[in-house]
Amino acid sequence: MNRVFKVQRMLLERIAALERAGGERDTSLQWERMHLASCARNGYFLAARRGYDAELAAVACSVHDYGRIVTGRHEDHAAAGYEPVKVFLGESGCFTAEEAELIALAVKGHSSKGEIGSALEEIVKDADVLDCHQYGIPLPGESYRRRLAAILAELGL
Ligand SMILES: [Fe+2]
Repeated sequence: MNRVFKVQRMLLERIAALERAGGERDTSLQWERMHLASCARNGYFLAARRGYDAELAAVACSVHDYGRIVTGRHEDHAAAGYEPVKVFLGESGCFTAEEAELIALAVKGHSSKGEIGSALEEIVKDADVLDCHQYGIPLPGESYRRRLAAILAELGL
């Protein structure tokens, strides 16, 4: 079992607990489950293509919407995930402080689709946009559409 497996299992347990607790949410927990796993897969392959650590990328993609998962709110969910995701990764016991910070920064920046961030942040943004495209979800803005066009060209799709 690698760190992607461990993080996703922990996250699915957290989601199940939130589901039992109930309450209003902007996005369904069913979508969160689907999106975290398929973003991770997209991120794994994008990272492998770009010479980046594919496992770390898949972990970052798995947790990128952690802020929305734990707060239930979409607005400002990227920034809202920054501190809680570091706690979550710390609880897993399998990341260095440097790795947790790198992932948390990618979580924090992932909604800024028109800006260029770290290599990891770019993988998370691209995996996110590609995942929404693969599920036929309309992209919310021009920066998303430009990013999608670049990813599809990169992948020859
Ligand atoms: Fe997000």
